[in-house]
Amino acid sequence: AQSLRDLAIRHGLYVGTAVDMAVLNDAADPRYRELTASEFSTVTAENVMKWESLEPTRGSYNWGPADELVAFARQHNQRVRGHVLVWQNQLPSWLTSGVENGSISKAELRQILRNHITNVVTHFKGRIWQWDVVNEAVSDPWDNPSTLHYKGFWAQHLGPDYIADAFRWARAADPKALLFYNDYNIEAFGSGNPANDKTQFVYDMARDLLAKRVPIDGVGSQGHLGTQYGNYDTLQVAAALKKFAGLGLATAFTEVDVRSQLTAGVQAGDSAEINPRLQASAANFSVLLRACLAERHCLSFTLWGFTDRHSWVPGWFSNPPEGLATVYDENYQPKRAYQEIKADLIFA
Ligand code: G3I
Repeated sequence: AQSLRDLAIRHGLYVGTAVDMAVLNDAADPRYRELTASEFSTVTAENVMKWESLEPTRGSYNWGPADELVAFARQHNQRVRGHVLVWQNQLPSWLTSGVENGSISKAELRQILRNHITNVVTHFKGRIWQWDVVNEAVSDPWDNPSTLHYKGFWAQHLGPDYIADAFRWARAADPKALLFYNDYNIEAFGSGNPANDKTQFVYDMARDLLAKRVPIDGVGSQGHLGTQYGNYDTLQVAAALKKFAGLGLATAFTEVDVRSQLTAGVQAGDSAEINPRLQASAANFSVLLRACLAERHCLSFTLWGFTDRHSWVPGWFSNPPEGLATVYDENYQPKRAYQEIKADLIFA
């Protein structure tokens, strides 16, 4: 059978997965490594390029696992999405506690961020296709205050100008990497759509950055969906991609998964045939993929993990428990979502 990567490349599309390096190196779980290599043409580090992982102690970098992923990608002719340069989560504690206790001033914090971006982008120079430069910088409608705004550690301590700075510093360190803003709840645009306002906010941000000649090349739409929220509409997803493309930006789906609540008789082991949520999940993957296939600026479609055996979802959503978010089951059997993606790639 043909792989997803072979089917996708006929459309010029790269299909990817987030990679957990501990599992990739687990000799007792060889199927993970085999499928990562055979099915995907782009990879993203699920955790090992994050700041806490790269610089656990101030001034001493731990490049090992990230370098391994980049070498794996080269060996298997895959492109790498760099994830992530600036984010409020998974920061090293020397940094967050230094800011909290006042030993790191605002001026020093800005310099620390600049050094981090410069060091990391320089280290991987020439080997990263797309960098997630800034991740999840915008609040959600349910946040308090509910008016959308720049949220999190960096906006709080440096003000929103850190975003423009981050893109400029990244460009200076590797002029050839594509520089992305990455976020969730920006998958769709159109009236009545729950993602509408945040998509508009990110669009306005990107437009303002471009007007100031800030080097942003793309917007990444994460695509963490759930069957309990109902389906997006393909045309509204395509409308969001088109909006960004209208600014001259590339787009990508960067972290796609579709989780379900494991209540009411729905269990992780259920087969595709008897579990209606697996059908709903497949439909959601398809909505995002078909919009991406219809929009030539949509460069890649990355899954946030490909097997229910190793997915961030059950660890994160436990009450009520959620899971079944990926395209292979816990025994590496392709699920309905996998077949749906394949069909979309064949018939597009
Ligand atoms: O490495 C430690 C390990 O030493 C320790 O024993 C274990 C005990 O909990 O924790 C391990 O760290 C975990 C880490 O993943 C590596 O497995 C953290 O607890 C856990 O919080 C962390 O979760 C990651 C999450 O980001 C945290 O922010 C998920 O794996 C990762 O999939 C998720 O990815 C994010 C994207 O980067 C950005 N968009 C949202 C997406 C999903 O949350």
